[in-house]
Amino acid sequence: MKRSIVLVGMMGAGKSAVGAELARRLGVPHLDTDAEIARAAAATIPEIFARDGEDFFRARETEVLGRVLRGPPAVVSTGGGAWMRPENRVLVAGAGVSVWLDCPLALLWHRVRHKPTRPLLQTQDPLGTLTRLLEERAPTYALAEVIIPVREGDSIETTASRVLEA
Ligand code: S3P
Repeated sequence: MKRSIVLVGMMGAGKSAVGAELARRLGVPHLDTDAEIARAAAATIPEIFARDGEDFFRARETEVLGRVLRGPPAVVSTGGGAWMRPENRVLVAGAGVSVWLDCPLALLWHRVRHKPTRPLLQTQDPLGTLTRLLEERAPTYALAEVIIPVREGDSIETTASRVLEA
């Protein structure tokens, strides 16, 4: 594998789980930008958002992405907002193939509704927030080189196979 595979898409799309499966099959490292940021900060993502703010988190995200993409080819799972930043898209274009896990709203909501780990959904109306984020972000996610639809009932293995076929 010459280029890294960079998974992008909404929270709940399966970027971390599918990334781990892809890396296992390809025999390359799996790097998760959220996990790398949390490890470096010795704090959870909600703690970093609460303590340092989203701008701080986004700056760390760009640093981590740049660092992992300068390393040997890997499968990289990004946080849902990473692909929204033009400088991050430039980093990915230089070192990897971007893959959007395109997952419908209902399935995203089903997966994230009971998970307290997404600071952006800590609002009065988390479903409304998720809906708005997906609407705002979908046109930008669609700029990814490869688009893989993820539907209800698709297993991690099935989605990973689709990515490899593409
Ligand atoms: C975010 C998604 C999260 C995490 C942070 C912000 C976003 O990652 O990076 O909470 O902006 O959509 P996941 O997509 O892995 O949940």
